[in-house]
Amino acid sequence: MARILEQSGLFDFFNVIYGRMDTKMSLIVNSMPGMFMPSAPWLTKAAAFRRAVRLPVFHAAKIADLATARHAIGEGLIDMVGMTRAHIAEPHLVRLIEDGREHAARPCVGGSHCRNAKATCIHNPATARETFLPHNIAPSATPRKVLVVGAGPAGLEAARVAASRGHRVTLLEAADRAGGQVLLAASGSWRRNLIGIVDWRVGELQRLAVEVRYNQYAELDDVLAERPDVVIVATGGIPDLNGLAGGEWCRSVADALSDTPPQTGRVLFYDGTGRHNAYLGMERYVSAGLDVRLAVLDALPAQETGGKGDDLVWMRNLEKWQVPVRAHVELIEVQRREGGVLRAIFRHQLTRADGGRARGGGTRHDRRRRPLRGRPRAFGQRRPDGSCGLRARRSRSCRSRTARRSFTCTGSATP
Ligand SMILES: Cc1cc2nc3c(=O)[nH]c(=O)nc-3n(C[C@H](O)[C@H](O)[C@H](O)COP(=O)(O)O)c2cc1C
Ligand code: SF4
Repeated sequence: MARILEQSGLFDFFNVIYGRMDTKMSLIVNSMPGMFMPSAPWLTKAAAFRRAVRLPVFHAAKIADLATARHAIGEGLIDMVGMTRAHIAEPHLVRLIEDGREHAARPCVGGSHCRNAKATCIHNPATARETFLPHNIAPSATPRKVLVVGAGPAGLEAARVAASRGHRVTLLEAADRAGGQVLLAASGSWRRNLIGIVDWRVGELQRLAVEVRYNQYAELDDVLAERPDVVIVATGGIPDLNGLAGGEWCRSVADALSDTPPQTGRVLFYDGTGRHNAYLGMERYVSAGLDVRLAVLDALPAQETGGKGDDLVWMRNLEKWQVPVRAHVELIEVQRREGGVLRAIFRHQLTRADGGRARGGGTRHDRRRRPLRGRPRAFGQRRPDGSCGLRARRSRSCRSRTARRSFTCTGSATP
């Protein structure tokens, strides 16, 4: 086909992508490879195409860094590299190369957040907001002393922008390293590149000579001692453990990602937000060999991860892990029974509407003896060997779009 097109004389070049794009999965594997895909996954296929034709060949598919792009051109694999998302993250990419400052280029981390309706970038807040948040940071006419508290992504960015404007900036961080919750988000096996959001900013703060002090929990006296003109508090949020009856037995995803997982037992994850949280925790607990189950508020897992296929990656993992999934349920209570046994009580989102079984508004899955799909025992019910109960603490996160409360909850088994 390519040769026929070539011989027609109507074409000047080929712009090739590999594979299909007729399903959401093929789109994120083939044409716009997601964060779970390796760098330049289809470069060798594009190179094979180039060898078969005479016209120049262009190719774009997760060639996000300049070293790979140079390799592709330098080795004659293709004639031009398309770097779509790389330019969305770093619109000054070409200028930085020209200026010999390509090391300062903000790396695209590949999460495809830019595929949302407004093409905003998870790494570059100015992208798609240029009318009120320019990429070029103007110097301030009145340089001041700025103190930023918290070196999560917001604090790092505030410090970077303030220092770029010519302010004298000090950044205090309670932990021993920067990153805040991005460190947790990047802990998943296929989410590691998110750490580029932190690393690039830490590098920029060094370049801008920002004083960063780790292991410093900022008390009032610490702040006043700096005599700052401006204080920016960017200390982020912590899991909210209030609001769910029996929440004291639950464990937040932040805990699940940072604590040592329990050694044995059965664990219920509850995804009430539709985001990555529960699945990151599950991945860790599955790797630790725990018996994990999932309950989700929505019809399917990870439904609010942005429509860019991340939900499919988690669903594929759930299949691989053989995790039983129960959908359409809202966690309304966790009860602790004799011997530390826990029981999770759900309200079914669909049957509630037509008067399904409920106690205090909730459906008792143990009454039906079907706590999750196809499982005969209730959560927290002891195993035949008497070993398993659930002990849980939970966190809550607000689903802003619906203004409903929902919970991201894990339970851990006690021997
Ligand atoms: C925000 C965004 C919008 C896109 N819109 C189109 C489009 O309208 N038509 C198209 O063929 N490809 C579109 N693409 C796909 C890109 O052209 C490119 O093939 C893909 O992003 C892979 O290249 P990359 O890894 O360099 O981003 C879009 C990509 C992004 C990130
Ligand atoms: S949102 Fe993610 S994938 Fe898109 S340009 Fe930004 S860093 Fe790259």
